[in-house]
Amino acid sequence: MKEVITCLSPQLLPLYHVEDKVVVVVDILRATSSMVTAFAYGAASITPVPTLAECRMLKDQDYITAGERGGLKVDGFDLGNSPFEFMDHKLNGKDLAFTTTNGSQAILSVTSAKAVLLGAFLNLSATADYLNSQSNSVLILCAGWKGKFNIEDTLYAGALASLLQDQNEAEDDATLAAISLYQFASPDLLDFLHKGSHAKRLAGFLNHKDLEFCVQSDKFDLNAVFRDHRLYRI
Ligand code: MLT
Repeated sequence: MKEVITCLSPQLLPLYHVEDKVVVVVDILRATSSMVTAFAYGAASITPVPTLAECRMLKDQDYITAGERGGLKVDGFDLGNSPFEFMDHKLNGKDLAFTTTNGSQAILSVTSAKAVLLGAFLNLSATADYLNSQSNSVLILCAGWKGKFNIEDTLYAGALASLLQDQNEAEDDATLAAISLYQFASPDLLDFLHKGSHAKRLAGFLNHKDLEFCVQSDKFDLNAVFRDHRLYRI
């Protein structure tokens, strides 16, 4: 039987084998939620890059630059990292270059995987359907915050693993813990997420709306995969 395994932080990734797995990278607040939103509004591709300098170089090649440092928009970039900034049909057909503190780095850390998908509550069922229709085991990689565990990505891991349970063994302790946490929190996910450290950080930047938006399930029926240095909608 296929397995679903959860890696609760990028710092733990060296303990896992990704080459034979489909990896779902999740950064609920907010990188993967914003990327999924960009694809819903027609973005042609997203190139995750590790540094601000690489992002700026792509701007010279007509890319739209997006991302954050410390949660804030970077000087000179076209867009920050709020999903609301990507709700713009001007993105239609455009290539984006994206750099964030955790999410884009997490994507770049698993490019040797069989496939890499973007995970967000916004496209939760689409991702579960895709994973249930293919034959590889799944690793859910939580982007966390600067190497540390976070609540929002772990809750997503629990939500996704719950939807995969019929067709996948979910027996590692991290996945079992994520499923239990999700079951506990799901009656009022938003309230639970408000307790998280990144939710508090974002509240300091007056980004209350972002949390409410990113916690919605199945707003978009799409998936995005990483191929040849870029993410594409499939
Ligand atoms: C990240 O990738 O670190 C985050 O998406 C940070 C943020 O909320 O902007």
